[in-house]
Amino acid sequence: EITLDPTATGATIDDTMYGVFFEDINRAADGGLYAELVQNRSFEYSTADNGSYTPLTSWAVNGTAQVVDDDGRLNERNRNYLSLDADSAVTNAGYNTGIRVEKGKRYDFSVWARAASGTTLTVSLKDAAGELARVRQVAAKGAWKKYTATFTATRTSNRGRLTVAATEAAALDMVSLFPRDTYKNQPNGLRKDLAEKIEALNPAFVRFPGGCLVNTGSMEDYSEASGWQRKRSYQWKDTIGPVEQRATNANFWGYNQSYGLGYYEYFRFAEDVGAMPLPVVPALVTGCGQNRATDDEALLQRHIQDTLDLIEFANGPANSKWGKVRAEMGHPKPFHLTHIGVGNEENLPNEFFARFQKFRAAIEAKYPDITVISNSGPDDTGTTFDTAWKLNREGNVDMVDEHYYNSPQWFLQNNDRYDSYDRKGPKVFLGEYASQGNAWQNALAEAAYMTGLERNADVVKLASYAPLLANEDYVQWRPDMIWFNNHASWGSASYEVQKLFMNNVGDRVVPSRATTTPDTSGPISGAVGLSTWATSAAYDDVKVTAADGTTLLSDDFSGDASQWKHVGGGSWSVQDGAYVQTDAAAENTMVTAGDPAWQDYDLHVKATKKSGN
Ligand code: AHR
Repeated sequence: EITLDPTATGATIDDTMYGVFFEDINRAADGGLYAELVQNRSFEYSTADNGSYTPLTSWAVNGTAQVVDDDGRLNERNRNYLSLDADSAVTNAGYNTGIRVEKGKRYDFSVWARAASGTTLTVSLKDAAGELARVRQVAAKGAWKKYTATFTATRTSNRGRLTVAATEAAALDMVSLFPRDTYKNQPNGLRKDLAEKIEALNPAFVRFPGGCLVNTGSMEDYSEASGWQRKRSYQWKDTIGPVEQRATNANFWGYNQSYGLGYYEYFRFAEDVGAMPLPVVPALVTGCGQNRATDDEALLQRHIQDTLDLIEFANGPANSKWGKVRAEMGHPKPFHLTHIGVGNEENLPNEFFARFQKFRAAIEAKYPDITVISNSGPDDTGTTFDTAWKLNREGNVDMVDEHYYNSPQWFLQNNDRYDSYDRKGPKVFLGEYASQGNAWQNALAEAAYMTGLERNADVVKLASYAPLLANEDYVQWRPDMIWFNNHASWGSASYEVQKLFMNNVGDRVVPSRATTTPDTSGPISGAVGLSTWATSAAYDDVKVTAADGTTLLSDDFSGDASQWKHVGGGSWSVQDGAYVQTDAAAENTMVTAGDPAWQDYDLHVKATKKSGN
């Protein structure tokens, strides 16, 4: 029974309560939200980004061509170019199954070319079944120059290939194919279906660009003297200006990032979806698996100055130094930045806080109205977390960014997490959270948890599920809110929950009381499995517990084994109180009865293996 008192006053819920967190993880940017269809357009892929990469990744050469890094390059930041011999061609395979084109839609091709004695570039778009658009020819001659052509697709295909062929020797760089039909028709824009799915959430803020992404190499010097080496830290200034002048970089998540989707595009996207931009800058204390804090004061001061410049880029008048850069990129009006995060999951709380204070002092001195957000480290409990919160509280921090990824049970059992938070302390920005799984039960647990966030909306001011996007063929992290490949996108059940809450933000909480406690102790139904890669094996005393210790399954095989199913063949039977594989199948998986679909659980499995290897 639930009792409501409509006259009682609960917390006021801010309109800005729910937003999204975009990180370039799972190829969320290149091959994802950024609409560019050519992969490795500037031949900058490198083994420094990923051991399997070469500068010709995603390209096939017909004839002779070499990737060259010499003084003939397009510019200092765009190191490599392709030297194509006469009567040779290069073909790009795009992302996933290839380049996606839709019948009747227009596609803008562009290339930077240098051809001393002139060449004809023949540009074609094909798949295995033939032409996807009428072939284009471009005459190129002389020093580096950008050439363009437009295609109208005559068929729909997910397997397109873009080929550029030269009659005479030519240097090529920044080979690009962009759909004309981008989100809000913005140039250098975003993939429409993905951007519209995010827009449909009605997010109040967009946190970007990370996540661990912002911690990449943040200890390293990033002067131009470093020669635009990869694994430079993620610097917002590297991500703006003409795309051909943005140096690509190694992405924290093991691939290359072109920065085609850069800070200008992030701010513009936030504006286009009606959200406030919420950038996160590196604090020079690297979390995300690295425990280091810089002692290089000059480097720290440079990052602090960069942060001030970022605020000017977002908010400064069009005649200020960085406001002018924004205006020249096409946005004379400010982007209305009000919040900025310093650091992400910093697990050295004392070192972090000392540096955070320097950032905050500099920002507040120049921009007293900006909310500077601190963080509580990578863990949501424990000494590091307690120390971080103590420092944040004692240091009168405005807002603290908390992150956690836990089981659905945890979310059900911790609905009251914020009931006991200090009302006089810093506000909470729940910058990243998700229950581990993409099933309906995960979404339900998250929805239940979000009622706890709202009940505590006087403390919890901002919340964003994470990660936002995942390309199904390049996954580093799951669960994710929105999934896609090169031609389709689909929201998870969690996406629907987020959409429901974000589109129905209340004004204030009506306090309520339930007269019975929901039973959150039982197992969540679904399948759990054990795998063997053995020629024969036997198991006894199988026990599966959730991370919080809840027993999900316990079987000593004293009875029958009918609750187990097999995936992958093989025969098993109960013999002398053990579950025994009785044939010599090379691989077996036994799965508990019920829906045998694999799901993500945070499980602790204990079993006694009696025999076999
Ligand atoms: O959301 C994925 C990752 O989870 C983020 O990069 C990081 O902040 C967290 O550990």
